[in-house]
Amino acid sequence: MAATFPLPPGSTIGILGGGQLGRMLALAAARLGLDVVILTPDEGSPASRVSKATIVAAYDDPAALATLARAADVVTYEFENVPVRAVEALMALGVAVAPGPDALRVAQDRVEEKTFLNAANAPTVTFAQVDSAADIAAALPRLGLPALLKTRREGYDGKGQAWIRDATGVEAAFAAVGAAPSVLEARAAFRRELSIIAARGRDGEAAFYPLSENVHEGGVLRTTLAPAEVTPAVRREAERIARAVLGRLDYVGVMGIELFDLGEGGLLVNEIAPRVHNTGHWTQDGCEVDQFELHIRAVAGWPLGDTTPMVQVEMTNLLGDEASDWLTIAAEPNARLHLYGKGEPRPGRKMGHVNRVKSR
Ligand SMILES: Nc1ncnc2c1ncn2[C@@H]1O[C@H](COP(=O)(O)OP(=O)(O)O)[C@@H](O)[C@H]1O
Ligand SMILES: [Mg+2]
Repeated sequence: MAATFPLPPGSTIGILGGGQLGRMLALAAARLGLDVVILTPDEGSPASRVSKATIVAAYDDPAALATLARAADVVTYEFENVPVRAVEALMALGVAVAPGPDALRVAQDRVEEKTFLNAANAPTVTFAQVDSAADIAAALPRLGLPALLKTRREGYDGKGQAWIRDATGVEAAFAAVGAAPSVLEARAAFRRELSIIAARGRDGEAAFYPLSENVHEGGVLRTTLAPAEVTPAVRREAERIARAVLGRLDYVGVMGIELFDLGEGGLLVNEIAPRVHNTGHWTQDGCEVDQFELHIRAVAGWPLGDTTPMVQVEMTNLLGDEASDWLTIAAEPNARLHLYGKGEPRPGRKMGHVNRVKSR
């Protein structure tokens, strides 16, 4: 049955994906009196352990999608690589899905994404579509060196990427990304990396958190400092970009937009994530309404709520066995520990994060 919005407390949110983002969405939903049902292929996922029910099945399993559609008043996702056809199948079963399939389609393919962004007046690095090593060689004169080759699909945390430093490295780079359909990007000579976490409600109302400054190591987010020191012009430009992207997708929910700060007010969009984002975790301990609650409010048709920062926060990801320091971190003043309940601390795996209050 088609839901009417706003969904009252007692309603059920379906989430595709069972990772830490789903877990923190479920915790936020619980605070608002909403129940959560997770669909994930993994047993014992971080999100399922704090949710009312879990369907363990492939994302495109028709019976699982039918069960989810019956259980949920609205469905969202915490992972941008859920198949678009799963979202379309849910919609065909009459359940609302937010964000919609267009956002997913665009964010799943780096060529589509950059093409969309440029059409939305959101500038990116110069890029070329790559289907062969010859395509790389042909594009290098235009893009310059070094250039970064990335698979079009399925990359995350810097995986599926290879730098090309000189023309002799072309074949090796293409082999390094598995000769997959790719995008070649000009190097962004950025001063620093920023991001903006933005949201849009069912009525088109938009909300923005202040920008954060993000440090990556080996393609993985290390720390976020927010609110970042930015000029009013940079903030305005980031909000202009976010508004254009959200509006063009008729988006409902929270989106993370990764930015390169070129200095002198110039920003490029690196990528967009149609979901809550690691660089927005600081909001849990920095704002009245955090990004997880904001997303739940948006998809449930509630007022978006207050994104004003109360304090400056530094968020540090706990990767691999860094989470074994939990006892020390738990004793630290001005620090708040968030652990995801994952068993295996594989190297580089996101096990948790800590938000440290920097200034009030
Ligand atoms: N064109 C580029 N020029 C310079 N650095 C880049 C470029 N693209 C990505 N990077 C660096 O690599 C990191 C990961 O790349 P990104 O495209 O965000 O992939 P992922 O999907 O794995 O997060 C970025 O945060 C940035 O530090
Ligand atoms: Mg990224």
